[in-house]
Amino acid sequence: MTHEIRITPSILNADFSQLDKEIARVAEVSDLIHLDVMDDIFVPNFTFDFAAASSIIKSSPLAIDAHLMVADVDMIAIQYAEIGCASVTIHAEATKNIQQTLKAIRAAGSRSSLGLKPKTQIQDYASFVDDVDMFLIMTVEPGFGGQSFMQDMMEKVRRTREIIGDRPIWLQVDGGISMKTIEMALDAGADTFVAGSAVFNSPDPAAMVVALREFATAHGKR
Ligand code: DX5
Ligand code: ZN
Repeated sequence: MTHEIRITPSILNADFSQLDKEIARVAEVSDLIHLDVMDDIFVPNFTFDFAAASSIIKSSPLAIDAHLMVADVDMIAIQYAEIGCASVTIHAEATKNIQQTLKAIRAAGSRSSLGLKPKTQIQDYASFVDDVDMFLIMTVEPGFGGQSFMQDMMEKVRRTREIIGDRPIWLQVDGGISMKTIEMALDAGADTFVAGSAVFNSPDPAAMVVALREFATAHGKR
């Protein structure tokens, strides 16, 4: 079965002093802009508070895929949905009432997404399959861009694909995705790809998004 491919570049490795320009460089060729929100509690790094994130979300020419790596995310997630993010990912490890929060994200008009850190098993969260529009399987420990892709997460991606079955749920991988690693994630069943350093450390970020998409699309037709 072939899946529709989505490329969602992460701006974590973009130039934070001119994010508007950086987003504009990839907006036309991307599906969503992946916004990594980190609080220095859930992960040992800080990116944006809600005010700073809001201004990025409101000014972005392309809809936002918010990846919330923040502790006690239940209420915060609803704020991100209400402000207009196309998709809001909460982490299973950071959420008190997963089902209630996923439902609230949807009720506020966003796609609901559940993210899992590398050591978290998908089997423990399979029961939420009808409450999500996307699963995000981390292929690095969350916190930083530029880390190496964890190939040993592919079994988890495969299991997640099995759990999804024929539901129209997106399966996103995040961490270390590049022209070298995307094939492994495709083979395991991922259809939605975050790429941070591969895109923004490239001399032509838009061309890299296009190259990733073309490779993934051609791979699906093999
Ligand atoms: C890591 C973030 C990722 C990160 C990916 O915690 O969730 O979105 O930006 O960056 P790369 O593609 O460089 O691994
Ligand atoms: Zn991310």
